[in-house]
Amino acid sequence: MSFPEDPIACMRSLQAEFGDLAVLEEKGQRIAFVFSPELNRRVLTDPTNFHSRFFAVRGGRRSAQRRVTSGLLSVNGSEHRDARRIMMDVFAKKVLPQYHETIVGMTSDLMADWQTGQLHDLNEEMVTFMVRMTGALLFGITDGEYSEELGTRIDHWVRQNHRVGMGALVAAEEYTSQYEQLLQMADELEVSIQDMFRRHRQAGNSAQRPDVLSLMFRAQGTERELSDEKLVGHATLTFAAAHLTTAHTLSWTLFLLAQHPDVAARLQQELDSCTAAGVPDFAELQNCTYLDWVIKESMRVLPASSYSQRVAVAPVTLGPLNLPAGTPVIFSQFMTHHRGDTFADYARFLPQRWENAKPSAYEYLPFGAGSRMCIGASLAMVELRTILAVMLRKWHFQIESGATVDGRVIATMLGPTSSVPSRLIAADQIANTVPVHGSIHDLVELPSEARTAVVRRAA
Ligand code: HEM
Repeated sequence: MSFPEDPIACMRSLQAEFGDLAVLEEKGQRIAFVFSPELNRRVLTDPTNFHSRFFAVRGGRRSAQRRVTSGLLSVNGSEHRDARRIMMDVFAKKVLPQYHETIVGMTSDLMADWQTGQLHDLNEEMVTFMVRMTGALLFGITDGEYSEELGTRIDHWVRQNHRVGMGALVAAEEYTSQYEQLLQMADELEVSIQDMFRRHRQAGNSAQRPDVLSLMFRAQGTERELSDEKLVGHATLTFAAAHLTTAHTLSWTLFLLAQHPDVAARLQQELDSCTAAGVPDFAELQNCTYLDWVIKESMRVLPASSYSQRVAVAPVTLGPLNLPAGTPVIFSQFMTHHRGDTFADYARFLPQRWENAKPSAYEYLPFGAGSRMCIGASLAMVELRTILAVMLRKWHFQIESGATVDGRVIATMLGPTSSVPSRLIAADQIANTVPVHGSIHDLVELPSEARTAVVRRAA
């Protein structure tokens, strides 16, 4: 049970005691953990023996649970290859500029009422904002409240999946008893997604609309296999994969920038010189090298996707271990990115390191690696770059001194679990590092001024 309760603490203690390969066993149930780049490579490049099982509980053959979990994240073999081929076009680099206007427009709308000195909770603000943004980019939803309603339904269902799935992993009664509730949630979610499809089609004009669902509807014309039933699974899981990952990355990046004035100042200089006054355009943002380093470093030190799992579908050998079929195998972005042999001062936020750092695909993998690497990675980078550039040209955030900032893994996702209170200051001022409390200090080494609160409390 120590794993679902606190995945990072559990993985750290396993690695400290057993090294880069460890196994937890309880009541005959085993979970294997790999912590090194080489073992990541071994697992992630062998999709024949290691299947993705993002949703452990698939439901009966004809259940809504089976249909809504039948998206890219949870299919394997030829089914995965075919679905990935169809979706590749939707996320191709050439279509990315068409999302720029929506991202800029929504970010500007978000800031329309912002005023100097206002107190914001970065965590809550970014989660709500990215639910709306994801609703617009993926499904063309312009009604923010409707996006939130649908996003919340998807989010609750994902969390319930992880609770019940974790129960299957550790054979715990308290988790498995919630199975019926999960099926009920899946029934309701399927109806909501179908309703969203209906609204989208009724609005018409899908040939011109810049959203992922319009492109998927168009692909239905050429791909006989892409039925509405399949699209329900793809739409649900893509939304689930997109909104919290981007929201948490934004919250962490803004928090880290606020606590590292030297980094914020250098980034401001770059934004001033590489984006013309006013709103940055798509092409300009491709040349902001330091902005990319900031985002990469934020995703290294606090990766929103902190771990993922595969399951061995045949008996396999991993190092000295013989794993029987059915053994879950966990690999972790957080553990891999926090290795001193790959990244010097691994716990610190040092964007400058990216001037020389050239980690392999298995040493640095915020978007995963191999044949299941995040299909939305380029879109995510466009969102992050654009939102940060538009926001930081106008505003900086001053974290409230003495705030408690907690971060924890919930359902594989590492995000803030407390509020992140911060005041708006004009972009020509740089925020000061302030002392904060909370579990953030277990995750990243902040500058010493940020740690004085913790030292004082311990004393
Ligand atoms: C900062 C933002 C994001 C992060 C950190 C992230 C991370 C990841 C990771 C680590 C995986 C691989 C999981 C595994 O190997 O088990 C993944 C897969 C996936 N991601 Fe993302 N993601 C992000 C944004 C997005 C966005 C914006 C979309 C879509 C619009 C998206 C859609 C997907 C899909 C569909 C998959 C499944 C790919 C497959 O199994 O073939 N992600 N993501």
